[in-house]
Amino acid sequence: MVTHELKPGVLWVGATDFDRRMFDELIPLPNGTSYNSYLVQGSEKTALIDTVDPSKEYELIANLVRQGITRIDYIVVNHAEQDHSGSLPMVLEFFPDAMIVTNEKCREYIADLLHIPLDKVKIIRDGETLPLGDKTLEFLITPWTHWPETQLTFLREDRILFPCDLFGAHFAASDLFVQDPAEIYRSAKRYYAEIMMPFRNSIRGYVERVKALNPEMIAPSHGPVHQHPQLILDAYTDWTSDVVKNEVVIPYVSMHGSTQKMVDHLADALVERGMTVRPFNLTKTDIGELAIALVDAATIVVGTPTVIFGPHPTAMYAVYLTNLLKPKVRFVSVIGSYTWGGKTVDAVVKMLDHVKVEVLEPVYVKGAADEATLQALDRLADDILAKHKEARLV
Ligand code: FEO
Repeated sequence: MVTHELKPGVLWVGATDFDRRMFDELIPLPNGTSYNSYLVQGSEKTALIDTVDPSKEYELIANLVRQGITRIDYIVVNHAEQDHSGSLPMVLEFFPDAMIVTNEKCREYIADLLHIPLDKVKIIRDGETLPLGDKTLEFLITPWTHWPETQLTFLREDRILFPCDLFGAHFAASDLFVQDPAEIYRSAKRYYAEIMMPFRNSIRGYVERVKALNPEMIAPSHGPVHQHPQLILDAYTDWTSDVVKNEVVIPYVSMHGSTQKMVDHLADALVERGMTVRPFNLTKTDIGELAIALVDAATIVVGTPTVIFGPHPTAMYAVYLTNLLKPKVRFVSVIGSYTWGGKTVDAVVKMLDHVKVEVLEPVYVKGAADEATLQALDRLADDILAKHKEARLV
């Protein structure tokens, strides 16, 4: 347990979880995570911004006690998901006079999820401010910076933005501030891919709004604090843009080697044509690595054999996840083999109904891949190259 000072009167009082390896029972966390909670002490009032995951609630309380905090006037809730709100009941036990400050939708969610009484909540609206004496909190209501009720909080005098999930990274570190920008860029990209990418179109506008605030620091609720916000603002500008890269992602699974042979041949053909190829053997890959690759790729080619009457379930998991994450990919195709039938290609394409893609002619063959199959894969590589050229990616 430890606290850090961002600026005079602004403390990190959260919890670091070096050991956590899975989030939402879905997202691998190779670098652990942190649940950042911040204490802002104005000359008249004190506000706590977000709490921590309930598994770490005693660390938050201990940090507050160690700082000698005897009164909290406001608890700002930027997001109702329990990794930030889950310690609210415990904090309210220790600081029963504190008022929760959040937007109307978030009040509904914390009432549903944590049974917080409605009369404990002061509702704020977009652009509203909360004076703390010599410090002022300003609220930006930003739905879909993960959930529909999310908001950002800006500390005007110190120019610190507290965006909760937005701009975060699942990265556990003992340092408060970003130490290795390249490492955090990679971790933040994984986080964006897994959590923010489905809401790309909304977030693009919020990034511009945040730029207009000209923050000196961005202090998210996961990962280290950005002392040089340009890094993460530039990254989000790129990731949320409509620009795709000359890259082909090939998530695949192969049972007896035929689909593997097709993937290998197609990958070589694409490389020979000047494209970057990222194959992911789905039985071995960290699904987060696949998500990162989907941030920039122009094309996805799904490689799957037919199992009984449809795609291999492992391939469908990746396709389903891709549909949820809604990457800005423009072209899709399917390759693989079957022995007695099925509707594998239709099933894959149908499952991508939330991704706006043009379907390129698949290469789906009966039996093991032969010379004609390899020629068909060369034709697919030509088709992909032609589409990338049309889109001016080459
Ligand atoms: Fe970090 Fe959407 O919770």
